[in-house]
Amino acid sequence: MNSRRKILIADDDRGVREILKHVLSDNYSVHDVSCGEDAVKELTSGEYEILFLDLSMPGMDGLDVLHAVKQNNIEIDAVIISASNDLEKAVQAMKLGAYDYIAKPIDVEKIKLIARNISDKLNLKNEVSELRKKVSDGFRFSSVISVSPEMKKIFSLLNRVIDTDITILITGESGTGKGLLADAVHYNSNRSLFPFRSLDCSTIPRDLIESELFGHEKGAFTGAHSRKIGKFELADKGTLFLDEVGNLSFDVQAKLLKVLQEKRFERLGGNEVIEVNTRIISASNKNLKTLVSEGKFREDLYYRLNVFPVEIPPLRQRKEDIPVLINYFLTRFNSEYERGTVFTEKAVNFFCRYEWPGNVRELENAVRRIVLISVGKEITEKDVESIFDHISQDQIDIPLKIKKTNYQTLDEVEKQAILDSLKINSFNMSKTSSVLGISRKTLHNKLKAYGISVEKKFSEE
Ligand SMILES: Nc1ncnc2c1ncn2[C@@H]1O[C@H](COP(=O)(O)OP(=O)(O)OP(=O)(O)O)[C@@H](O)[C@H]1O
Ligand SMILES: [Mg+2]
Repeated sequence: MNSRRKILIADDDRGVREILKHVLSDNYSVHDVSCGEDAVKELTSGEYEILFLDLSMPGMDGLDVLHAVKQNNIEIDAVIISASNDLEKAVQAMKLGAYDYIAKPIDVEKIKLIARNISDKLNLKNEVSELRKKVSDGFRFSSVISVSPEMKKIFSLLNRVIDTDITILITGESGTGKGLLADAVHYNSNRSLFPFRSLDCSTIPRDLIESELFGHEKGAFTGAHSRKIGKFELADKGTLFLDEVGNLSFDVQAKLLKVLQEKRFERLGGNEVIEVNTRIISASNKNLKTLVSEGKFREDLYYRLNVFPVEIPPLRQRKEDIPVLINYFLTRFNSEYERGTVFTEKAVNFFCRYEWPGNVRELENAVRRIVLISVGKEITEKDVESIFDHISQDQIDIPLKIKKTNYQTLDEVEKQAILDSLKINSFNMSKTSSVLGISRKTLHNKLKAYGISVEKKFSEE
């Protein structure tokens, strides 16, 4: 396949060099040198793949060359040419990692054969590494479950820029997986061994955000009792994920823009100039362009952040992902809660008809609740309906008219699971506690803790 691999011949015997050149130059690109010193010089260029090396040369001999190759981490397949009385040295050369050796007088056919073997081996190595790259590309985003063509397109575009410093802006409705994707980009990029830090610009109070981003020196402001290192600095060589970036105030936007342009900043109250190499991924569920046109977001910062835009479509626009995600979450939660829940096809279809205004997060929580309330149970369409009974039929399939069931915390999910389970089991306490896999006492305690008052509804057994 690769017929023009580069070969270097190092031998002080001109006759040998000529023979080798004659034999090899039809299929390879061949260069020759007459001493060890020149051989090392040539090899440090890193261009050669095969070396025919005479063991005994004046000055640096073959073994010296092999030592230098090793020291300089040069990747080369060396074939030793030795006089027949040099067997001991040839053995040493093999120990130093030489590929093969041939004894003088030169057997032309053997030379051809060895060169071809090395070449085949290198071709195979290339193929394997190409294959490995392809496979790892495919698995790079394996944490983001999807079969939808739109998502696959996103993955393939991201693959092209993942190892660059390019700034990425991820947009999409709440729960579409923006955070998950940012995480996947970092941990599959060549920055993965360096830190991934994220900052939610919507939850940090305005006056703290600057210090969160850039850090501060002791005494920079009242309450700054010690030096604080900001996320920009903590994520040096890694990735900083600015979540809900649309929420940044104008003055922080201005400072962020300056830092992105100059790649350097000072901590609040400090003079030391800190240079960083931090990749920025930002996310927003608001349309930043709209914010720009409303005068709420700086246009220049928008263009700085939006170098590589990624828009994750809402789940209702990629319904083919729903069954796959159900399966994925079922497997996860069945193992987490030691259940064996399965969905009937009709139950899956019911899920596919729903519009999921809370996107994947809502689906994830729905499956979690169902798994929690079922013990090794096959979940039917009726079960799913009864859990979703607060959603009237006419709301199914009507985007965004649906009441939001976007349970955020595990407590909320658990509370809802208890309520669902009570409903399914006609408020029978024994059945409910047994289905939930907890004692009646624990159920009582949980009802109390969650403020669920059910006295009237119980059909006490
Ligand atoms: N394609 C997916 N595969 C597996 N899990 C997913 C996928 N998309 C989202 N999730 C899960 O859904 C939940 C919500 O995802 P994430 O927090 O990344 O969404 P988001 O777009 O950042 O939401 P928000 O705008 O509310 O911050 C997470 O638990 C995440 O792991
Ligand atoms: Mg998020």
